Amino acid sequence: MKTARLTLRPLNTADASRIAVLGGDWDVARMTGRIPYPYTAEQALHWVSDLAEGEVVFGIEHAGSLIGICGFSPDGNGSAEIGYWIGRPFWGQGFATEASQALMSYGFNKAGVKRFTCCHFTDNTQSARVARKLGFRSLGPCTGWSEARNAHLPTQTYERHRPWTSALKSTAMKALAS
Ligand SMILES: CC(C)(COP(=O)(O)OP(=O)(O)OC[C@H]1O[C@@H](n2cnc3c(N)ncnc32)[C@H](O)[C@@H]1OP(=O)(O)O)[C@@H](O)C(=O)NCCC(=O)NCCS
Repeated sequence: MKTARLTLRPLNTADASRIAVLGGDWDVARMTGRIPYPYTAEQALHWVSDLAEGEVVFGIEHAGSLIGICGFSPDGNGSAEIGYWIGRPFWGQGFATEASQALMSYGFNKAGVKRFTCCHFTDNTQSARVARKLGFRSLGPCTGWSEARNAHLPTQTYERHRPWTSALKSTAMKALAS
């Protein structure tokens, strides 16, 4: 998938060492639920090779290099939780927003997602901003697990429903395919 500046592509095992370096940065890992700290290339390789059934994950490439990851996990009932991270050298250039917009279009138009949810730790002001730019509305506070911080932390949750234009597109695509 292409955007103005980015390519979203499947991950492969050759990405593991770069994922470990960029994702293993404390300021990235501590804001995610699942990245441990420290994060070794072996752990990243294991994660890339053993993605959960149904999980949709893309590497985010800019100018030919992997700069981050985004994806979503469908719950089987039309909802999917979105996640994203960008390597620290590439923050503040709109990349998380641009990649996630493309990911959500894909989810709404091609993957049958009717509702996206997202959440971030309350101390993650950048991600709060990204969620707002993506059109999410707040559902309020809860608690989430941080593997890197080895703790349950205050978290904000959000949702965004499929726009009616995406619902029409999705129905039209199914009709064309049948
Ligand atoms: C959150 C993250 C993905 C944002 O990536 P990014 O590519 O820099 O995001 P964008 O550039 O699209 O948007 C960042 C927004 O945060 C704003 N921002 C940056 N630092 C900020 C701060 N300290 N406080 C508030 N807002 C801040 C930017 O100005 C920008 O908003 P704007 O476009 O209105 O100016 C990135 O910081 C990251 O990977 N962090 C660690 C992992 C993580 O938090 N993942 C998400 C878990 S929910």
